[in-house]
Amino acid sequence: MQKEFIKMEDRINHKESMTAEEKAACDLPRISLEQNTGNKRKLYIESYGCQMNFSDSEIVTSIMHKNGFDTTNSMELADVIFINTCSIRENAEQKVRNRLAQFNALKKRKRSLTIGVLGCMAERLKAKFLEEEKIVDLVIGPDAYRDLPNLMAEADEGNKAVNVFLSKEETYADISPVRLNSNGVSAFVSIMRGCDNMCSFCVVPFTRGRERSRDPHSIIKETIELVEQGYKEVTLLGQNVDSYKWQSEDGSEKVNFAQLLEKVALISPDLRVRFSTSHPKDITDEVLYTIKKYENICNYIHLPVQSGNSRVLDLMNRTYTREWYLDRVKAIRNIIGEDCGISSDMITGFCTETEEEHQETLSLMEEVKFHFAYMFAYSERPGTLAQKKYADDIPEETKMRRLNEVINLQQEHSLYRNKEALGKVHKVLVEGESKKSNLEYKGRNSENTVVVFPKGDCKMGDYVNVLVTDCSLATLFGEIIEIIPSSTKISN
Ligand code: SAH
Ligand code: SF4
Ligand code: F3S
Repeated sequence: MQKEFIKMEDRINHKESMTAEEKAACDLPRISLEQNTGNKRKLYIESYGCQMNFSDSEIVTSIMHKNGFDTTNSMELADVIFINTCSIRENAEQKVRNRLAQFNALKKRKRSLTIGVLGCMAERLKAKFLEEEKIVDLVIGPDAYRDLPNLMAEADEGNKAVNVFLSKEETYADISPVRLNSNGVSAFVSIMRGCDNMCSFCVVPFTRGRERSRDPHSIIKETIELVEQGYKEVTLLGQNVDSYKWQSEDGSEKVNFAQLLEKVALISPDLRVRFSTSHPKDITDEVLYTIKKYENICNYIHLPVQSGNSRVLDLMNRTYTREWYLDRVKAIRNIIGEDCGISSDMITGFCTETEEEHQETLSLMEEVKFHFAYMFAYSERPGTLAQKKYADDIPEETKMRRLNEVINLQQEHSLYRNKEALGKVHKVLVEGESKKSNLEYKGRNSENTVVVFPKGDCKMGDYVNVLVTDCSLATLFGEIIEIIPSSTKISN
């Protein structure tokens, strides 16, 4: 028992058993891979924050590649350093400031080095960044990446440049991302940008602008290309995928999220389909029935609750109540099945949250027993509705104590869910070598839990049936029972 209740830091350090979402949640940066196509100049790109940011870095790399750059994983070798930033909590921004101080030492040795700040923090601080951080040459917001060739030309002339224009239309639909974070098995596909929700704690609507959905034809095209390259899993990305809504210019073709999900699932039965993030107010039964209908759409939903108390949810402007959330969980279990993986996000110590209200978050967790969760202490962000309307009045130590209670309870629930998986056979997509041993592979089951097992005769990208015989808090362990033969061809 004792071993299983490992501290959060240990779990964070034990990176191999973390999903991509978990890595993102604990703010580990993604670093560009080595790419040698003969381009003369080298770009080093480091990305923080959510999967949207990681996905954007792949768009940026594609644009820079056409503009004469290959990527490198060594900042010492770089002609240009980009840092793709996140503003979601204060510590995310602090990390970037610390990193810039380290880049400064490099720039002192190499005067020609260009340093660009991209992403949400660039958008939030705009030209102020150039005043605050003298080493920065370029400040580029998330909708301005097409302008990179012009901005780079400015930098090459020795000028500083800023473009933080937010667009109502930009989706980068026609740009083929250069897969930076890829194991060749799973890829992220962005389906929409921005967010119109205005949750009162959240900076995203200000850094990413208005919500817009990408043309489904370009999503399908990108996914077919991935399948042709041998990819076996796509994760459809958006801040609120359930509000995906697209229509053709003449209005004759309309696609909602459930329909998009179906179109992607139909591309190939061998392609696993995941998506993130769902919003409790918007997730429809139509989406749940679509998940149920297609075996290759994973039985896993990330459904952030934020708080278990309806008054706090109202202050957060989440536009649902505790009862509504629990009803959605019930619908997931009724329609998809009792064992559907559900994960969540929680914020502790939001403005005016009382002890009793915090207890309601714990009791909601007890009712649902999430498979996993990403848990945060409230961090006031400049310009948000909460910062303007409410006092950030919960003392830091209370926020942290509540956070620890939430984390401890979640650890019990993760272990509970993992124990439920014992003795059962799980279909796992082989995603890579386990970091602990080159004799083992790791992958995930449909419910998104990491499974580690001896390699046997399978290879990366195979589907295998694994009998789970043991578990820790974050990982299932087992052995292969059979390698599942692949069935299909691609349908357009
Ligand atoms: N679009 C997603 C969330 C994106 S941000 C959704 O609506 O659920 C990821 C998570 O960061 C949020 O779910 C929330 O739990 C957390 N978060 C956002 N703003 C925060 C803040 N100011 N302080 C602490 N956590 C925050
Ligand atoms: Fe932020 Fe809310 Fe939008 Fe999520 S839905 S990105 S929490 S405003
Ligand atoms: Fe961070 Fe921006 Fe994503 S604030 S969480 S990188 S949308």
